[in-house]
Amino acid sequence: MMFRRSVLLVLSAAAVLAFAACTATTDPMTATSPDGTLTIGVELQDGRPHYHVEADGDSLVAASPLGFELEEAPPLRDGFEVTETTQRTLDTTWTPAWGTQDTVRNHFVERTIRLRETEGPERRLDLVLRAYDDGVAFRYRWPEQNGLDSLRIASEDTQFDLTTDHTAWWIPDDYDNYEWVYRETPLSAIRDSAAAISYNSYLEEVDDGRPETTSKDDRPGTVNPPLTLRSPDADRYLALHEAALTDYSSMTLRADPETPTTLHTSLVPWPDGVKVKASVPHQTPWRVLQVADRPGGLIESHLLQNLNEPSKIEDPSWIEPMTYVGIWWGMHIDKYSWGRNGVHGATTERTKRYMDFAAEHDIDGVLVEGWNTGWETWLGGDEFNFTESYPDFDLQEVVEYGEEKGVALIGHHETGGDVPAYESQMDAAFDLYDEAGVPAIKTGYAGPIRPEGVHHHGQQMVNHYRRVVKMAAEHEIVLNVHEPVMATGIERTWPNMMTREGVRGMEYNAWDEPSPPSHDVTLPFTRMLAGPLDYTPGIFNLTPEETMPDHRVLTTLSKQLANMVVLYSPVQMAADLVENYEGEAAVEFIERVPADWSESYVLQARIGASITIARRARDSDAWYVGTTTNEEARTLDVPLDFLDDGQTYVAHIFEDTPEADYQDNPHAYRIRLGLVTARDTIEAALARSGGQAVILEPATAAEREEYDILE
Ligand code: NOJ
Ligand code: CA
Repeated sequence: MMFRRSVLLVLSAAAVLAFAACTATTDPMTATSPDGTLTIGVELQDGRPHYHVEADGDSLVAASPLGFELEEAPPLRDGFEVTETTQRTLDTTWTPAWGTQDTVRNHFVERTIRLRETEGPERRLDLVLRAYDDGVAFRYRWPEQNGLDSLRIASEDTQFDLTTDHTAWWIPDDYDNYEWVYRETPLSAIRDSAAAISYNSYLEEVDDGRPETTSKDDRPGTVNPPLTLRSPDADRYLALHEAALTDYSSMTLRADPETPTTLHTSLVPWPDGVKVKASVPHQTPWRVLQVADRPGGLIESHLLQNLNEPSKIEDPSWIEPMTYVGIWWGMHIDKYSWGRNGVHGATTERTKRYMDFAAEHDIDGVLVEGWNTGWETWLGGDEFNFTESYPDFDLQEVVEYGEEKGVALIGHHETGGDVPAYESQMDAAFDLYDEAGVPAIKTGYAGPIRPEGVHHHGQQMVNHYRRVVKMAAEHEIVLNVHEPVMATGIERTWPNMMTREGVRGMEYNAWDEPSPPSHDVTLPFTRMLAGPLDYTPGIFNLTPEETMPDHRVLTTLSKQLANMVVLYSPVQMAADLVENYEGEAAVEFIERVPADWSESYVLQARIGASITIARRARDSDAWYVGTTTNEEARTLDVPLDFLDDGQTYVAHIFEDTPEADYQDNPHAYRIRLGLVTARDTIEAALARSGGQAVILEPATAAEREEYDILE
């Protein structure tokens, strides 16, 4: 042991010397961001590793313990010494296949700290720290070693001592479901929050003889990340999440019973209670703290993607962002049925009608749910058949019809949670769509996962979801996953994993308590930080008579348009029945709005209150700007200084009329046209739960003649 200590001293001295050449202050146990503002460091307290995070000298995370409890083995957290530390810096730029930005800078300082137990089995554990200008991250790595060839993790004991109370936006921990309305409370109030606000109602109604999945009722004071925080002085915004969730279980965060501003990692278990089962070498996902000085900074960050590996798909040219309509809302408002025990939605004829509409309106795809047999007994015990169409749906015929019109069919695999049944049919199911020429599939896991006790967010399902992504990539098919595990940036590695739900989406407004007007103004700062979301905006008939009077959409029509810009998805739905778009001038916005962007900026933002996002289209010089508000009417200035200097643009504004109101007059919108430049400001006069959607396109000479300067 003495020998080892002196080796350590020599190593540290050498390391300090080496770093002294770069900067006099470099500490071999920390990583500091390229701009010098953020630092993450590790220290051993009596042999137990702790990490801490500072921003401009302020403590963001006070020394917080690290480590693991293992099944059938001593804990892996105490009695460590440092054997080596190394540092590297990377500064590169990469090009996402699609996204909110066409190039992303990946600039970080990384520190690896190698630990070894001083006694007993002398197991080894590496800590990898990364400091970026927009946040810090760390992960554990088990290097290959004698005496530790497998892991059964009983608990990951990573803590986050957030030093002070913050304002927090969160959803309750739930091992199976993220479909909740976000709550705004003091961070310290999470501890005393009831775990369950109410269970996802359609799961509650499941009466198929199977026990419900473990309800979160027994886990109060626990939340699902991303967790968004605002510092007491509102000068700093933080988001706590994980990146690169691979072969591991999801992290939830449990408030400490004594110190409620300290959060504990709590991993989603396997049915036998073990959290993670793995062979060594292995590594955890990154534990990530995003840091920004304004809420929009959290949204503009690419930290999660940067923490993931580069694309494994060498030629992503087959991966195309798209807008789509679908045979979908009709089922949720009870106009159609998925199966044949009602008015069957997914008929050949109706699919063609949707394809005609899509072709006429420049929409790229048509989703068809309920095309395959098994829906009459959904969640009733019988299996879905993923290769057998209902007799009134001809897959080949509709795909060919769409091809003639330049419209893709988006396929659908609803598993109902019966993963073994899906896995046994997956090969054939993907072959069928591949051979038919279906480029995109929406998958679904609505219901408790089988076998019983397996959770949507546990390691077994994390691995299942990844198998599906890989199989889809082999077939050159892109995915939109419903009831997924939370996004953690893996779309950088697997760009065919395009969008996912994991959000209380539009469908709830059709059959449950409608989401409040603040919901879609909170999502950009919470769920959307994790990655693209299939929220399914674009409803024009906000009070469909098919639904009950208390089931409706609590926004104006203009807010629905603005959400197609604000709520980012590279596979973006216009969710209403196509007949509700016919004859509406506002459909022009849906025709023109793209799903792929070269630049994105948050122009103004107040979490849960209002937001303006400007995005530049990837395939043109046009900009699209969406502004939305919660239940308060407000007038906001939208300065256009992001536009190219010296260029005149036509502004095409879709907005609430002065009479519009989400409760009494949600449909009232108007369209304004006029010429603007980068020196101008557009006024966004928003109704309660209203919005404004703007297209800014370089003006032709004829347009400069035709239009007046915008008032
Ligand atoms: C729940 C999904 O979120 C929804 O989009 C889908 O229509 C149903 N499951 C049926 O698959
Ligand atoms: Ca869902």
